[in-house]
Amino acid sequence: MSDRAVAPNNLDAFWMPFTANRQFKANPRMFTAAKDMHYTTSDGRQVLDGTAGLWCCNAGHGRPKIVEAIQKQVAELDYAPAFQMGHPKAFELAARLAAMLPKPLDHVFFTNSGSESVDTALKIALAYQRQIGQGTRTRLIGRERGYHGVGFGGISVGGIVSNRRTFGTMLTGVDHIRHTHDIARNAFTRGVPEHGVEFADDLISVITLHDPSTIAAVIVEPVAGSTGVLIPPKGYLKKLREICDQHGILLIFDEVITGFGRLGAPFATGYFDVVPDLITTAKGITSGTIPMGAVFCTSDIYDAFMTGPENMIELFHGYTYSAHPIACAAALGTLDTYEEEGLLTRAAELASYWEDAVHSLKDCPHVIDIRNLGLIGAIELEPIAGAPTKRAFSAFLEAYERGLLIRTTGDIIALSPPLIITKAQIDELFDTLRGVLNAID
Ligand SMILES: Cc1ncc(COP(=O)(O)O)c(C=O)c1O
Repeated sequence: MSDRAVAPNNLDAFWMPFTANRQFKANPRMFTAAKDMHYTTSDGRQVLDGTAGLWCCNAGHGRPKIVEAIQKQVAELDYAPAFQMGHPKAFELAARLAAMLPKPLDHVFFTNSGSESVDTALKIALAYQRQIGQGTRTRLIGRERGYHGVGFGGISVGGIVSNRRTFGTMLTGVDHIRHTHDIARNAFTRGVPEHGVEFADDLISVITLHDPSTIAAVIVEPVAGSTGVLIPPKGYLKKLREICDQHGILLIFDEVITGFGRLGAPFATGYFDVVPDLITTAKGITSGTIPMGAVFCTSDIYDAFMTGPENMIELFHGYTYSAHPIACAAALGTLDTYEEEGLLTRAAELASYWEDAVHSLKDCPHVIDIRNLGLIGAIELEPIAGAPTKRAFSAFLEAYERGLLIRTTGDIIALSPPLIITKAQIDELFDTLRGVLNAID
């Protein structure tokens, strides 16, 4: 490895995303290598990956099949134009993904990220309604505390105030239902919370307010991740589906983090047994190795566009790098790895061990709630009065010093390790975290 990679001497030019730039540049934290469950830091320490990178490296790091697929592909076909041309792996990948989904979700539109998947799904929803003669349906409904990436579509339907307030008026014609987080009734719930199905009735109020004939689609994360792991109350997602069906509204599940095994089933749609009209994915599709996203839609939606003269483009949307050959190869290598190692259902095997481990922190200082589902866990901390986020950020820094990568959002610690984690590593993760919580103010 070159000295430059290990110790860059100028950190100024890179404006880091979603990062406290000045804090980081004063005390940089650099990863220079990764293998299986661990990162290596620039000072040679091993850090246990408690977050699968950013909820994406579901197969772990440096996995041979994926590495090999990428290396081979870049030498063989580095790029093929995405518009009016194809390459075999794009079709192979789409067919393989379609086979993993419940019917009638059987078509795939490729993107390069979760944000692009969200914008794509919202655009398909709007265009579909127009295509079927429902052109008055132009409104989109999101949810408070929803995270749908950072495109203008995603922040408009998203519900995280700091991601929205400095960016103007965003999309018009968007409304939100309430989030389902209810610590008062559901604190320390193991798995799906008992209380809160009635939050779904918010959708009826919003529909009534605007009239169903103006609403195109509703988008929710089946489990909200980035906003601090909000697990849907029992029956909530089914109820949203029923309401959408009653009013001709499309339901979009944003599965950017729940997709590809996070809950113990390939997708949350299967886990919760609720089938949406569109699903957005990214991250785990290539186990984080190469940027890629995908939107899944039903045959009804796809078929609605396959009309008119056959020489005409049916949907005026796409990216230069849609179905990029290297991303497709990475995704195929990833799916092989998931399949061979049973990773898409491994979270189900580990779920109860994981649940006990997460909840073992209940009596640690500062903890006001703990929640879990599949291989996701969250520990909510009491904020320091007048200094929100400070306590969790201290936990993040302390954990990093102790050789553990966690993610924090607000004063919530979110955990989502690679699906290859062992029970011994789960023990190590929570032993370290216990030490962290005992150490911070
Ligand atoms: C549910 C959800 N949607 C969309 C996104 C955006 O994905 P990306 O950062 O790849 O644009 C994320 C990222 O964390 C996410 O969790």
